Amino acid sequence: MIRFENVVKSFSKKVILNHLDLEIPKGKITFIVGKSGEGKSVVLKHILGLMKPDSGRVFVGGEDITELSGENLRKHRQRFGMLFQMAALFDSLNVYDNVVFPLKESGHNDEKENLRKIEEVLSMVGLPDILNKFPSELSIGEKKRVGLARALVHNPDIILYDEPTTGFDPLIAEMIDHLIVKVGRKRPDLTSVVVSHDLKATLESAEHIIMLYQGKVVLSGTSKEFRNTENKIVRQFFSGKQEGPMVFL
Ligand SMILES: Nc1ncnc2c1ncn2[C@@H]1O[C@H](COP(=O)(O)OP(=O)(O)OP(=O)(O)O)[C@@H](O)[C@H]1O
Ligand SMILES: [Mg+2]
Repeated sequence: MIRFENVVKSFSKKVILNHLDLEIPKGKITFIVGKSGEGKSVVLKHILGLMKPDSGRVFVGGEDITELSGENLRKHRQRFGMLFQMAALFDSLNVYDNVVFPLKESGHNDEKENLRKIEEVLSMVGLPDILNKFPSELSIGEKKRVGLARALVHNPDIILYDEPTTGFDPLIAEMIDHLIVKVGRKRPDLTSVVVSHDLKATLESAEHIIMLYQGKVVLSGTSKEFRNTENKIVRQFFSGKQEGPMVFL
């Protein structure tokens, strides 16, 4: 579904993506892991076309998106749902108006149909009957779920999560992980990409895992392959040990 070919990206001479080749399968939940600063968020920005590689190519759904700009780039972005660390709801808008936003942006103005879609995604995230509430009236977990409903309402091909659980207490984090899996099951064609620091959740929830290290993929495979790998870098990372071959800059 998503493919990086020989992508190089540097910031003021610091190479972040170093001839990166990467493949994210369609219709699965892929977790991207790696230590802080390895370029995980930079990878998501390349997928969205928010950042351009210095060289190399990025393909999404078979289309080369590397050079997209203007209207084509806007259309490309409509294929995505996004959930970032903080849900970033509009505080002055109620739940309905928050969730309807991506529908209106993509030109869906049939109010009855919009309401049907909104009620469907809100019930998927376990929040029926809150259309008229404002973000200030919601708990952190509820806000997050409304954010997820908003990311899903326009039926995107791909949903990107950048550290969806970081900073939440363990119960909310687990609820969010379960929702990611539930949503993936309910929409089998949806490709989910999750950047996470929670390695336990990664091993439990991922259908595919990609680990980045020094600008490249060090291992790409299933949870089982990650659990059984002999790769010393991967083993060190997942065991959380300071001693080992991994270089901390
Ligand atoms: N717009 C930018 N301008 C300059 N440097 C940037 C920019 N975006 C990212 N970087 C640098 O690229 C590197 C990778 O950043 P990125 O945010 O992708 O890391 P990450 O793997 O997501 O880390 P974390 O787990 O802490 O979120 C960092 O060193 C960061 O400072
Ligand atoms: Mg990041």
